[in-house]
Amino acid sequence: MEGMTNSAVVLADPASYAAAVEEAAQAAAAYYATGESTLDDDAYDRLARGIAAYEQEHPQEVLPTSPTGKVAGGAAVGDVPHTVPMLSLDNVFSAEQFATWTASLERRIGRPVTAWSVEPKLDGLAVAARYREGRLERLITRGDGTAGEDVSHASGTVVGLPERLAEPVTIEIRGEILMTTAQFEQANATRTEHGGAPFANARNGAAGTLRAKDRAYTVEMTFFAYGALPLPDSGELAAELAELPHSQVLGRVADLGVHTAGDTEVAPRTVAAVEEAQARVEEVAALRASLPFGIDGIVIKADLAADQRDAGVGTRAPRWAIAYKLPAVEKVTRLLGVEWNVGRTGIIAPRAVLEPVEIDGSTVGYATLHNPADITRRDLRIGDHVMVYKAGDIIPRIEAPVAHLRTGDEQPVVFPEACPQCGSEIDTSEQRWRCVRGRDCRVVASVSYAAGRDQLDIEGLGTTRVVQLVDAGLVADFADLFTLEREQLLSLDRMGETSTDNLLAAIDAARTQPLSRVFCALGVRGTGRSMSRRIARYFAEMDRIRAADAEELQRVDGIGKEKAAAVVAELAELAPLIEKLIAAGLTMTEPGATPPPPPGEEAGEETAGSTEGAPLAGMTVVVTGAMTGVLEKLSRNQMNELIERAGGKSSSSVSKRTAMLVAGEKAGSKRTKAEDLGVRIATPEEFAEMVGEFLPVDA
Ligand code: IVH
Repeated sequence: MEGMTNSAVVLADPASYAAAVEEAAQAAAAYYATGESTLDDDAYDRLARGIAAYEQEHPQEVLPTSPTGKVAGGAAVGDVPHTVPMLSLDNVFSAEQFATWTASLERRIGRPVTAWSVEPKLDGLAVAARYREGRLERLITRGDGTAGEDVSHASGTVVGLPERLAEPVTIEIRGEILMTTAQFEQANATRTEHGGAPFANARNGAAGTLRAKDRAYTVEMTFFAYGALPLPDSGELAAELAELPHSQVLGRVADLGVHTAGDTEVAPRTVAAVEEAQARVEEVAALRASLPFGIDGIVIKADLAADQRDAGVGTRAPRWAIAYKLPAVEKVTRLLGVEWNVGRTGIIAPRAVLEPVEIDGSTVGYATLHNPADITRRDLRIGDHVMVYKAGDIIPRIEAPVAHLRTGDEQPVVFPEACPQCGSEIDTSEQRWRCVRGRDCRVVASVSYAAGRDQLDIEGLGTTRVVQLVDAGLVADFADLFTLEREQLLSLDRMGETSTDNLLAAIDAARTQPLSRVFCALGVRGTGRSMSRRIARYFAEMDRIRAADAEELQRVDGIGKEKAAAVVAELAELAPLIEKLIAAGLTMTEPGATPPPPPGEEAGEETAGSTEGAPLAGMTVVVTGAMTGVLEKLSRNQMNELIERAGGKSSSSVSKRTAMLVAGEKAGSKRTKAEDLGVRIATPEEFAEMVGEFLPVDA
């Protein structure tokens, strides 16, 4: 499988080896004590592998505190001896490694293995539950594998681990205690209500909860059994268990009333061939993201008792089972900020901005935060280290801050006081905050956008005015601006004769804005200023744009398959608005552009929007610094429009493909780069001369 991590930290000398051992020992101690490690699983594994690699090269330097070869990294303590050691598992990370392992097992026992049990590797804490004559007597952690800690006090809060079995048998049932996603959410809600710090993830939650004794509240966990063994006075049951295949042992355990993974989508499955086991591994891996509890791999076991017996056990792990590890889906990173976005219905949703981190093969820079209450409940602060979860195509989410990594410099998250989109009030009466304008919030934002400087450039139409117009019911989209009447405007607060006449004149002037700006004003996703100009220049007429299918749209530079389809769909939705704009007399053509021939008759790739003979034909031009002379008043967007009208392509960065840099006053690094690359540099005046005939009328 791809994206598996088995890289290691590289240790070059005794000092860095010693430091690594120290760090690993501390992390392991913290992890097994409270479940709260200072490293995420991936980082710990990399460190452990680096330590092991160093020790192989320098066997005489191995420190006694090294975690290598020790159960639980040598960290765990406890005083209840295990009757049979609670071992760890060896790992594989790929199909090849898995096949190698099965082959070596079959070689060892001298025959093929004909039954494999494939089951989830539950991401919790190993415990042994001792039942005497059907009653739960003791619950013990794995500890160092030889002896563990008595955590019987917690048994009442563990779902799936009954006080009494269905039969009065004496047996030790082993398995994993974890928090399901729902239990984890509940635990953190309860904890923060009691003034405690949230758990960073479900595993930490289970570890901390299992060992906690004097809490004022209880939180629930779940037990999943994965094995059973006889105790000294198990009687007949001992012989029975010794002969049963592992899969049937699990069945027996379930019949006794103990919870197993048997009732989940990733229930243990017995297969005959290694290829089938591999296929099931991939199936379970694909289900991982949608499971209501965490798994960190798949465990494959030789199912038959005889195979297990003949394979035997090593000091650290049995030879008849292997953990097929899945890539880590949780990483620790920093919360850099919170953004607030307003949806179509006016819902104001927070989004976490993260220090980018690679998880499961993709880079994660954002995570959902659901709603403001969620931020409060999780007690998130800017600057926090946070545990981020991402699996499959699931939207990344923050589990919780890693509270013990706080320095005191973290800052509270600032909640917006007004709608970040339109500036109106926020309705905070429900969990999900909403702009009081609801869907109209979009109207205010989209009308303000359309009236903006780089679109229709309607002076005097700021957000406050737009809110007024929308509230008065005069404007429901920006086409309505063009049918506003003088009397209507005069009836509004703070609208005198002069401002009314100025506004009407500004609106009227917008009718002459070119198609590129009208198109940009529509706010079609993915078509900002520069893309709108490219579209307008290619098609030259609004009708041609509307008639284009996705395939034709892709002829425009920078439009791929996906964007083309999205634009076509959005334009269809916008048809009524476009009709209104046409009726209102807005310009629906792009000056200087020639429409492409109808589909099917195109002569060559670049006939449409042809710029042959134009002064900047075929040139990529970059503008930097402050413009002077006739160009002084032009915004950067207007400069780019000018370049494109004159047949060129505008760009914002200098590269070896740049044909010319227009460098105004205080030009900085772009000028230096152009000089280095030998790119032609023109002053604003020289440039104005070249493109004279294309200058805007008022420039
Ligand atoms: S069998 C003697 N089956 O993973 C072998 N272990 O990393 C005992 N684990 O110590 C392990 N799910 O705590 C087994 N289905 C499963 C498991 C499982 C989770 C844990 C267990 C073990 C650790 C090794």
